[in-house]
Amino acid sequence: MDTIAATALSHKNLLGIADLSPEEIVLILDTAEAMKEVGKRAIKKVPTLRGRTVVNLFFEPSTRTRTSFEIAEKRLSADTLNVAIASSSVVKGETLVDTAMNLEAMAPSMMVVRHASSGACHLLSRICKAAIINAGDGMHEHPTQALLDAFTIRERKGRIGGLKVAIFGDLLHSRVLRSNLILLRKLGAEVWVCGPATLLPPGLAAMGVRVTTRIDEAVDQADVVMMLRIQLERMQGGFFPSLREYFRTFGMTEARLKLARPDVTVMHPGPINRGVEIASEVADGPYSVILDQVANGVAVRMAVLYLLAGGADDEAVA
Ligand code: CP
Repeated sequence: MDTIAATALSHKNLLGIADLSPEEIVLILDTAEAMKEVGKRAIKKVPTLRGRTVVNLFFEPSTRTRTSFEIAEKRLSADTLNVAIASSSVVKGETLVDTAMNLEAMAPSMMVVRHASSGACHLLSRICKAAIINAGDGMHEHPTQALLDAFTIRERKGRIGGLKVAIFGDLLHSRVLRSNLILLRKLGAEVWVCGPATLLPPGLAAMGVRVTTRIDEAVDQADVVMMLRIQLERMQGGFFPSLREYFRTFGMTEARLKLARPDVTVMHPGPINRGVEIASEVADGPYSVILDQVANGVAVRMAVLYLLAGGADDEAVA
């Protein structure tokens, strides 16, 4: 059966990759290519979201996601509002729902939300008129990270289907892993995951993912090596003996990377723990696309904002 190209997203919100069809994922990636062209212009601005207000509501720290959403919103001419949680009434005990409802009263078109609780964005999507974009909820999903990772892989390799993508690190606590697994499997990649047995979440095999605790097996002939951060802030200790031991057993070094394909692509969503999950020589080396991922984050987030706002208007990026 021929695949019918998607021309619009079927959902008002972007809560997770799980809600997107393969065709919708490809639509976002294709749209991001047009948005990347906007970023190469002398005047990096189009009128697509003129007159619309986008609220960035980050209850957890962020460098890449928050700033790239803000740049994306500004390039689309939206009125952007960043809520500084530390100086908001959240510190007086105001709840997530009350905070969102009060912001909603000022009629934003969209809210970009990061929260420590899995499901926080789903909750807001049920009570808000504004479109909700998940910028990372607990250990659940980080959909725009997976989309920018896919965009970067496709840019490097020309495809995603059939590639061996090996993902290493703190698999248990990673919303980036979850979104990437769903996306990569939907687009037909062969996905391997590798980490200490204590950091393997249940249900991986059922997602069609190959699981191993032997790093050499996972990296062998990999097209893409994706390192994930050890999330010390979500650990109470006891997952592995020490950071030094972790690096010795699971850290990505130049020697280990030699087992991958000669044109391997090395990725990391950031922030990096240098010398823990990845050696500096690898993170800064010739195969690394870590800063390309950051740059592509702007284009991908522009595409998501544009498509959720209605999309399908070619003049919007002209
Ligand atoms: N990759 C990522 O989500 O980074 P930030 O936490 O800096 O946004």
